[in-house]
Amino acid sequence: MMDKLTIRDVDLRGKRVLVRVDFNVPLDGETITDDTRIRAALPTIRYLHDEGARVILASHLGRPKGEPNPALSLRPISAHLTELLGFTTAFCPESIGPTAQAAVETLADGDILLLENVRFHKGEEKNDPVLAQAFAKLADVYVNDAFGAAHRAHATTEGVARLLSPAVAGLLMERELSVMGAALRDPERPFVAIIGGAKVSDKIKVIEHLLDKVDLLLIGGGMANTFLLAQGYAMGKSLVEGDQIDVAKALIVKAKDCGKDLLLPTDLVVANQFRADATARVAGLTEVGDDELALDIGPATRTAYKAALQDAKTVIWNGPMGVFEMTAFAAGTLAVAEAVADVQGTTIIGGGDSVAAVEQAGLAQRMTHISTGGGASLEFLEGRLLPGVEALTDR
Ligand code: 3PG
Repeated sequence: MMDKLTIRDVDLRGKRVLVRVDFNVPLDGETITDDTRIRAALPTIRYLHDEGARVILASHLGRPKGEPNPALSLRPISAHLTELLGFTTAFCPESIGPTAQAAVETLADGDILLLENVRFHKGEEKNDPVLAQAFAKLADVYVNDAFGAAHRAHATTEGVARLLSPAVAGLLMERELSVMGAALRDPERPFVAIIGGAKVSDKIKVIEHLLDKVDLLLIGGGMANTFLLAQGYAMGKSLVEGDQIDVAKALIVKAKDCGKDLLLPTDLVVANQFRADATARVAGLTEVGDDELALDIGPATRTAYKAALQDAKTVIWNGPMGVFEMTAFAAGTLAVAEAVADVQGTTIIGGGDSVAAVEQAGLAQRMTHISTGGGASLEFLEGRLLPGVEALTDR
C-alpha cells in the first residue's frame, strides 16, 4: 500500500479539487499526435466526476519559458478531453487570478474545468511561493496525478501541495508508484533489467541502483559502445563517451563483485553512415571498421538476450537497443520487445524511447505497465525521491 494518501482515502463531494495532470503531449499544430498521457489520466478524472468533486485540471505543455505562447495553449486538449470523456469540460484561458477564480465558482459538483498552461507563468518552474499560493486559492484539496512531472519541484507539482490539505495521489500516480515500487522492493525472481539508449552518462545512476536489486542486467544501444571500448574493442566512428570509460569499467567490476551478470553485446549491426539507407552489415566485436558505426545489437546478441529473458519473472526495460527509428537498425530493439512481451511475469517499460519502440512493435497491450514518465521514471529507477510525491500527505 502507498505511504501517501490517495483520492480513494478522502471525501471529495462538493470540494474544489485542483488536479495536477501531465498533459504534456506531442502536438502537430493543434492536432494531438499521441494522447496516451491524456487517456492515462481519465480514470482519475472520471472517479472525481463520479464522486461529485468540482474538478480543476492544471498542466504544463512544452517549455514556454514563463511567457504566454498560443502554440502551447491547452485549449485543443480541452476539446479532446471532452471527446474522450463523453461530456463537456470547460476551458479557462487563465490558470490563476480573477478569471480562473470566477470560472471555478461556476463549477457544480462533478464539473470539469481545464486551466491554461501553468508554465505561462515564470514562477511555475521556480516553484515561486506567491504563484503556489495563487493556485492554492482556487481549491480545497490537491491531487497529483502527473507522474511524468513528479520529478519537477514546481509550483503546481510541489509548492501548492504543501499549501492544500489533504494533498493526495491520483490513480495514475498510485499505479506508477506501486507497480514500479513493488518491482524494486520485492521483485519476483529472476529479475532482469534491460538498459539501453545513447549515453552511459544518462544511465549510470540507474545501472548502479538496479545492480543491487536485479539478477541480470542486459546492456544495449549506443551506451554499449562505451562499455565495449572499456573492454578494449575498437569502436570505429561509433558514438562513445571517452569520459565515461572508467565509469563503465567500474560498473563491470561492481557487477562482478556483487555476483550479478552484466551482459554486453557480442556482435553488432554496423554501417558507415548514420542514415536510414546506409548499407548495414553484421560485425563481430573485433570487426568494426575505422569508418564504421555500431547502430544496433547483432543477431547473436539478440538470441542471447532473448534466452536471458525467457525465465524472467520481473523485467524493467529502459532505453532502446539500437537506432530503432531506422528499419535497418530496429531488429535488436524489436527482438527485445517481443521477448519482454513473452515474459510470464511483471514487465515494466520505463518511459521514453522504449515506450515508443513497444508501441511501434504493436506490443504495448502485452506489457504489465508502460510508464507515462520519461525523466520521472528514470529518476524513480535511480532510487531518487520525487518532489511531487514527497510533498503529498502521508498516510
Ligand atoms: C515530460 O514530458 O517528461 C514531462 O512532462 C516533464 O516535462 P519537462 O521535461 O519539460 O519538465
